[in-house]
Amino acid sequence: MKDIPSSIKKEIEKLTDDINYHNYRYYVLDAPLIADEEYDRLFRRLSDLEGKYEYVLPDSPTRRVGAAPLDKFEKIKHSEAMLSLDNAFSYEEVREFDKRIRRLLDNEREIEYTVEPKYDGLAIELTYRDGILYKASTRGDGYEGEDVTQNIKTINAIPLRIESSDRVPDEIDIRGEIYMNLDEFDKLNRLREDKGEPLFANPRNAAAGSVRQLDPSITASRRLFLAAYGVGVARGITFKGQWDFINWLKKSRFPAPLAVSRVNGIEKVIEEIKKIEEVRKDLPFETDGAVIKVDEFSLQQRLGTKTREPRWAMAFKFKAHQGTTRIKDIRGSVGRTGVITPFAVFEPVRIGGVTVSRSTLHNWDEIKRKEIKIGDTVVVERAGDVIPHVIMVIKEKRTGHEKDFPIPDKCPVCGSDVSREEGEVAVRCVSLYCPAQVQEKIGHFASRGGMDIEGLGEKNVELLYSRGLINNFEDVYRLKIEDLLKLPRFAEKSAQNLIDAIEKSKKTTLAKFLFAIGIIHVGEYAAKLLAKNFERLDDLYHVKREQIGWIKQMGEKISSSVSSFFSDEKNLGTLKTLKSLGLTVTNPDYGAAFKKHLPLEGLTFVITGTIPKSRKEVETFIESEGGHASSSVSRSTDYLIVGNDPGTKLEKARSLGIATISYTDLLKMIDSRTRHPRLF
Ligand code: IVH
Repeated sequence: MKDIPSSIKKEIEKLTDDINYHNYRYYVLDAPLIADEEYDRLFRRLSDLEGKYEYVLPDSPTRRVGAAPLDKFEKIKHSEAMLSLDNAFSYEEVREFDKRIRRLLDNEREIEYTVEPKYDGLAIELTYRDGILYKASTRGDGYEGEDVTQNIKTINAIPLRIESSDRVPDEIDIRGEIYMNLDEFDKLNRLREDKGEPLFANPRNAAAGSVRQLDPSITASRRLFLAAYGVGVARGITFKGQWDFINWLKKSRFPAPLAVSRVNGIEKVIEEIKKIEEVRKDLPFETDGAVIKVDEFSLQQRLGTKTREPRWAMAFKFKAHQGTTRIKDIRGSVGRTGVITPFAVFEPVRIGGVTVSRSTLHNWDEIKRKEIKIGDTVVVERAGDVIPHVIMVIKEKRTGHEKDFPIPDKCPVCGSDVSREEGEVAVRCVSLYCPAQVQEKIGHFASRGGMDIEGLGEKNVELLYSRGLINNFEDVYRLKIEDLLKLPRFAEKSAQNLIDAIEKSKKTTLAKFLFAIGIIHVGEYAAKLLAKNFERLDDLYHVKREQIGWIKQMGEKISSSVSSFFSDEKNLGTLKTLKSLGLTVTNPDYGAAFKKHLPLEGLTFVITGTIPKSRKEVETFIESEGGHASSSVSRSTDYLIVGNDPGTKLEKARSLGIATISYTDLLKMIDSRTRHPRLF
């Protein structure tokens, strides 16, 4: 251990405390006190001091990231079993639950209950020893789970140390649910779609998939939250009941469930459940029910548990937005890339207040997996409360007249041949002139995220296309008011509005334009990433796959697709014509990636001695990560990288009090700064 001046020790301790407090303000209370830049500055200062003096506190926020990937998860036995819950589906069952409890307790009086939302995520246990987060484990089979400590530490809402205005126990197991907010879930899935990765079915799977990762940097890149709702073994602290425990959690900087209430008697419980169900659709997370618990722990103890569930708690499950109907027909629709998507036409059915008459069946593998046939009676669910999905076939209702829907060998719209590539689930229409594709492409081009031409929606695209007025992107900018006035749907004013909207769209940004032109696999997110990294549209002409591949988060699929788009002369011709028609593309996004994200920005490094890579290579690397590589040590040097057999630079650095690090430290530094989730 190095000799550390006490003033530095104090500074490190204060920074650790301050940053942890700001984390709490930001992630738990959602009420930050300082700007992101200030937070980043404190964070950088702390990690610099920690690196320089090798003094790191066990609850240092810098320790949330940077752990190496594991080969496998170790098993952890829970000191006390993690139970599951009995379900109630009606208020009658809730009343039964209360009756049973009062009978078991011989109780005349009304029972006090707490009511909380049921979070739909992954149950975990956090063990704190002497106030420090020591282990985190998944529920597993209830008795034994997996050690996910490294991953859990990356979740900023979880305290690394119990900082309480109340009592700090010697040891405590805190249970809760790790979950992902709905908007984060959507964002993650959009990103995965852009990258051609499989989508998560729901926020629960996304949260569980993010925690059960051997590489903690993946967990760190996902925004996860905790709702703490239970206590296991606790030494050095006692709680009167759930209400007391929840209040202690709040005082100790833990995120507790939203809207916990304590009420007397089961009728009040039912009122509380109704309140939660009412606000359910406005909550930022998915909740599938409410959890009712007997408040007093001594009563809980007396009631005890059955094999897997406690007698003192119950989950009331909200009605899923599901319904049953019959598939009248299955048809294929053709998207802008030619992919043929099968969809089911239903006998209309009302689900959760909305009439549903069709739903996508995604692809033929899905049809095969779910064994869906025309004529089948199926269960339909509105997932995320909007898009309907076929959950399953009710096979008992089959009559024998159901028909398969085979993969078509001709495009259902233009009759051209279809292709299905090896290993791909998608079936495509091969024609470049398929009317469905052309219209979809133009519709996408004009859409809000693209050229944003108000008034050029699906219906008008169809009309203009059918009259031969638009066959491609360029034609949009050749439209004249006289053309529109000849059409049934346009009057003087509406025609002028559309012409104005088209004119306005000529000024656009590179990100929007790249999205608009519909390069396969390039969604809004990928388009923005490209714009951040390429200054002008022309810079993308004949771009090589590798030039895109090095952009973080750009997968192989997107890189090849972008590269082949920009090597096609016909495509480049289209871009030129668009420019000649008056299109101008600016790029306000360019450079944003570097300004914020380069990990070594503002730091100067000098190398001495032999390091594992050639000096030139490492210097180029440092520069590419935003740092500056210099050949001699001076006061402006931030770090000296010391290899084997260091030269006189080492002495000079020491005399100037400059921090020395190894080559591995450099890699770690880049890694941890790159992974710090606030930077994304
Ligand atoms: S109490 C013995 N409270 O639901 C008590 N559980 O279906 C068990 N859950 O395994 C847990 N929100 O993962 C409790 N407010 C809440 C909850 C909750 C979600 C999960 C938990 C449990 C599962 C049982």
